[in-house]
Amino acid sequence: MADFVIAVDGPAASGKGTIATRLATYFDLPVLDTGLLYRCVGVLMERAHEDLDDEAAACAAAAMLTADQLDDPRLRTRAAGELASRVAVHGRVRDALMEFQRTFAGQEGGAVLDGRDIGTVIAPDAQAKLFVTAAPEVRAERRWKQLTAQGETVSYEDVLADIAVRDARDGGRETAPMRPARDAVLLDTSEMTIEQAADAARRIVEAARARWLSST
Ligand code: C5P
Repeated sequence: MADFVIAVDGPAASGKGTIATRLATYFDLPVLDTGLLYRCVGVLMERAHEDLDDEAAACAAAAMLTADQLDDPRLRTRAAGELASRVAVHGRVRDALMEFQRTFAGQEGGAVLDGRDIGTVIAPDAQAKLFVTAAPEVRAERRWKQLTAQGETVSYEDVLADIAVRDARDGGRETAPMRPARDAVLLDTSEMTIEQAADAARRIVEAARARWLSST
């Protein structure tokens, strides 16, 4: 059996992370949340009191990154998300993190990767591509609940403002801006429960898999 790669892209709190994890379980594939790489670079820089706009320093932090650092729950905080989107604008940082992601995508059997540029840059030949979206208010509500459950104290309005800033930065940057690949299927989860969204994603990927199997 050849390799089957699933690319799941989309903005913050669209549901793409949960969808990617569910797809990985269903299709029995390893999954990588690529946002953690950028979060880790941002957190490493902050700990070292580096300037986030310093591309060379961010590159050095990216070069130091190892897979075992990605399990740190501190990478899941609101602050880490903001740090991530600031270092993610640097083209050389993105290049430095590319090999790690492509090696993951290229493993035998295939893989699921979620992020912003998986279908466009990291795995443009992925057999199944999804771009998961939801209205900003819906995403803010979801992210607010998630952060509150993690013990963070933050208002819904602040989370909504964060989301607007991140959408603009991720979609407006020069290198690998967040956008759907031409062959991605758009999945708007605004009106869906996570179960419904995961089900819809599974059906889209099953159809892509059937097309791929019949063409090989
Ligand atoms: O997905 P998550 O919210 O963890 O991503 C954090 C930030 O990392 C994003 O806002 C984005 O700036 C950056 N990122 C990226 N490319 C990816 C994954 C994440 O630029 N493939």
